[in-house]
Amino acid sequence: MDLCIIGSGYVGLVSGACFAEVGHHVVCVDNDQRKVDALQAGKIPIYEPGLEDLVHRNVAARRLRFTNSIEDGVDHSQIVFIAVPTPPQADGSVDLTYIERVAREIAGVLKPGEYRVVVDKSTVPVKTGEKVADTIKRYNKSAEFDVVSNPEFLREGCAVPDLMNPDRVVIGSASQKATDLMKQVYEPFRAPILVTDVNSAELIKHAANSFLSLKISYINAVAAICEASGADVEMVADGIGHGQAHRPQLPQRRPRLWRLLLPEGRESFHRDQQTARHAVCAPRGSRADQCRAAHALHRQGPQ
Ligand SMILES: NC(=O)c1ccc[n+]([C@@H]2O[C@H](COP(=O)([O-])OP(=O)(O)OC[C@H]3O[C@@H](n4cnc5c(N)ncnc54)[C@H](O)[C@@H]3O)[C@@H](O)[C@H]2O)c1
Repeated sequence: MDLCIIGSGYVGLVSGACFAEVGHHVVCVDNDQRKVDALQAGKIPIYEPGLEDLVHRNVAARRLRFTNSIEDGVDHSQIVFIAVPTPPQADGSVDLTYIERVAREIAGVLKPGEYRVVVDKSTVPVKTGEKVADTIKRYNKSAEFDVVSNPEFLREGCAVPDLMNPDRVVIGSASQKATDLMKQVYEPFRAPILVTDVNSAELIKHAANSFLSLKISYINAVAAICEASGADVEMVADGIGHGQAHRPQLPQRRPRLWRLLLPEGRESFHRDQQTARHAVCAPRGSRADQCRAAHALHRQGPQ
C-alpha cells in the first residue's frame, strides 16, 4: 500500500521504516528541512537499535523516501498518518496547534474524488479526531476522507521491535472502508487488531499509560517491602504476572472503580505518561530493580 507519514520524528520515522520493511511504499514528510536533508543523505537523527539498517535497506529498495512536501506525500498515498508533536502547555492541557496546522495543510492538498484515510498517530486528547475532521471539512468542502485514530504504544529504546511485533493494534474508526484499509496496513504484522470508535481509541492510549504508571507505583511499593524482607522483587513480579487470578483485570461495568484507577483529566494523564516513560526506560540508578520488575509486570499485563 502507499502510505504517507507527516512528522518524521521518533514515531513517524520508526513507523515509516517498519511499514516499509513489511512491503508498503512510504513517504515520510517533515517540515524541518535540515532533518529531511539529513534523512535523504542517509543520516538518522535519532538513535534506536536497528533503525539505521532498516531505513537504509528500505530506501535502497525504493520503499521509503523523505520529503518536505505534504502535497507530495498526500498525492501519492491512500493513507496519511499524522505523527507530529502534542506537547503539554503550562496549564497542563495539550497543545494541538501542530495537529491543527497539519489538518489544514492536508485540507489544502486533498483533491476532489481522491479519497484518503487521515490517521491520528500522535497522542491526543479524546475528541481530537472530530476536530481534525471539522478542520479538514472547513478548509476543503469537497474533500473525501475519513479520520481514524491509531495510537502508538512504542517505547523509546526498543521502538523497532515494538513496532515490528506490536502486542496489539488499536484502530478507532467510524467507517468500514477506512477500517478495511487500516487492517490491510497492519495485516503483515500479525498482531491482534482491536477496532473501536475514534473516541475510545484516543482514550485507550491515555488509559494504558495511566494503568502502566499505576502498576509501576504498585511494584515500587512491593519492591520496598522486598528490600526490607530480603525477597526478590523480580520473582515476586513474575509470580504476580503468572497468576491468572491476580493478573490485573479491567473492571467491566464498575465506573466507580474506574474513577479510582484512572486519575481524571488530561493533566494527570500526561503526568502519568511522563512518569511511566521515565520509570520504565531508566537503565540504571537506585530504582533499577524496581524498574525492571515494573517492566516485567508491564509485559505480562492485560493486552
Ligand atoms: N516518542 C515516543 O516514545 C512516543 C510514543 C508514543 C506516542 N508518541 C506521540 O507521538 C507524537 C509524535 O511524537 P514524536 O516523539 O515522534 O515527536 P518528535 O518531536 O520526535 O517528531 C515530530 C516531528 O514532526 C515534525 N513536524 C512538526 N510539525 C510538522 C508539520 N506541520 N509538517 C511536517 N512535519 C512536522 C517535526 O519537525 C518533528 O520531526 C506525539 O503526540 C507523542 O506524544 C510518542
